[in-house]
Amino acid sequence: MKFTIVGAGAIGSLFACILQSQHHQVHCWTRSRRAQIQREFHDRHGQLQTFTFTNRKTELIAQSDAVIVCVKAFQTAAAVADIAPYLDAQTPLILCHNGIGTHSAVMQQRPEQPLLFASTSQAALKQGETLYHTGVGPTFIGWLSHASHSSASHNHAPNNLASPNHASHTDATDEPSVISTLRDALNDAHFEPDILPKLWEKLAINCAINPLTALHNISNGQLAAPLYQETLKALCDEVSLVATAEGYPMAAEALLTRVKAVIQATAANHSSMHQDIHHQRRTEIDYISGYLVQRAYIHHIEVPANHTLWQAITQREQSYV
Ligand code: PAF
Repeated sequence: MKFTIVGAGAIGSLFACILQSQHHQVHCWTRSRRAQIQREFHDRHGQLQTFTFTNRKTELIAQSDAVIVCVKAFQTAAAVADIAPYLDAQTPLILCHNGIGTHSAVMQQRPEQPLLFASTSQAALKQGETLYHTGVGPTFIGWLSHASHSSASHNHAPNNLASPNHASHTDATDEPSVISTLRDALNDAHFEPDILPKLWEKLAINCAINPLTALHNISNGQLAAPLYQETLKALCDEVSLVATAEGYPMAAEALLTRVKAVIQATAANHSSMHQDIHHQRRTEIDYISGYLVQRAYIHHIEVPANHTLWQAITQREQSYV
C-alpha cells in the first residue's frame, strides 16, 4: 500500500520504517523542506537498517491509500490543514497522538473524510536521524466521529475538546482495508469499532505517568516507588469517574492495575512529556490532564489530583515558552 506519514518524530518515523521494511511505499510529510529524509533504525533485535523516504511531494499525498498523522496533539489540526489541498476525499486519515480532543477541529476542516484514530503503545526514541524501537505494545485503530454529532451532544465544551462520537458516514463496524495492512505490519494491531474506551484507557495511563515523570524528572519505572502510589490511585479514581460519566465505564482498580503494568513494562523509558519538559518543548498536557479536567467540569466531577498536575505542567511550560 501507499502511505503518507505526516510528522517524522519518534512514532511517525517508527511507523514509516516498519511499513517500508514490509515493502509498502512510504512518503513522509514533515516541516523540513528537504526532498528526502533518512532514519538509522535500530530495531528490537539490535539490527541497524537505513531507510530513506521521499518528503513533501504533494502528488504522493493524492496517491496515498492512507495518511497517518503522527504529530503532537496541538499540531494536528494545522498539519491536516497543510495537507488538505492535496488529500483525496476518500483516503482514510488516521490520527495518532497522546491524549484526546483534536477530532472536532479536524472534522470541521474535512467533514467527509474517513477519519480514524490509532492509539499505540509502541515506543521509540529519536535522536537526530537515529531511531530506536524501545518498546512494543498493542495498537488499536478505530473510527472517529463527524462534527455534526459531537457539537450537538457536547456544546458546552470548547470546540476542539468536545467528546467524539462515532462516524455518521459509515457503519462503525466497517473495517477499512488499511487496517489489515497495519495489522500485519505492526504485529499487534487491532481494529476497534469502538475506539473511545481504548482512548480513555490510554488517557488514564498518560494522566498518571506523563505529568508525574515530567515534574519529578524521573523514568517511568521510578513511579513504582511507594512515594507515588497514593497519587497514582487518586489519578486513576478520577479518570474512572469521568470516563464512566462519559459513557465508558471503567473500574478504577482495573485502571490502576493497567497503569502499574505499563510502569513496569516501560520502566527504563522516559515518558514523552518528560522528554518535552526536559527539552523545554510544549507538552500535550492540555489534551491529557487538561482534557480530563474539561470533561470533569461538564459532569460536575471534582478532579483535584489531575487539576493540580495540569496546572503544575502548564506553569512549568510557561516558565520557558
Ligand atoms: O507518552 C508516553 O511516553 C507513553 O504513552 C507512555 C505509555 C506513558 C510510556 O512512556
